[in-house]
Amino acid sequence: MAAYRFQLNGKGATVESWDPAQPLLYVLRNQLGQHGPKFGCGLSQCGACTVLMDGKATRSCVTPVRQAAGKRVTTLDGLGNTDKPDVVQAAFIAEQAAQCGYCTNGMIMAAKAFLAQTPKPTVEQVKQGLAGNLCRCGTHTRIVRAVMRAAGTAV
Ligand code: FES
Ligand code: FES
Repeated sequence: MAAYRFQLNGKGATVESWDPAQPLLYVLRNQLGQHGPKFGCGLSQCGACTVLMDGKATRSCVTPVRQAAGKRVTTLDGLGNTDKPDVVQAAFIAEQAAQCGYCTNGMIMAAKAFLAQTPKPTVEQVKQGLAGNLCRCGTHTRIVRAVMRAAGTAV
């Protein structure tokens, strides 16, 4: 069985898999206890499974585990925790930007990557930046407000 090594939230991680095409999402959830990324569509359509790979928003449901080898993978747990949330996590809490919460991992991870590229966005830019992440609960208005708050701009 092949072993794949990568950095997970700043620490070395090694996983074994019979299948180099096994989705990174399965490895993260089933072998590494990372339950932030969610299985939504499994087809790169919804964004629920988003993680950062070398800082880039990446859909882990369609990313083979072999592609993670040697990379820096960051999950929601790697941003912050309940006691010390990351600025984006804190903004989502402050704006109560979730209903069921299923999309929230993807929204936060996509927002992290987006804000790294666009630190002072307009509302329109935020909408475009997160357009590929779906929320079935219709929480978009609060999510946009949360991302603007994280950027230091109240709306
Ligand atoms: S579960 Fe990966 S994009 Fe939907
Ligand atoms: S809060 Fe339910 S899918 Fe977005």
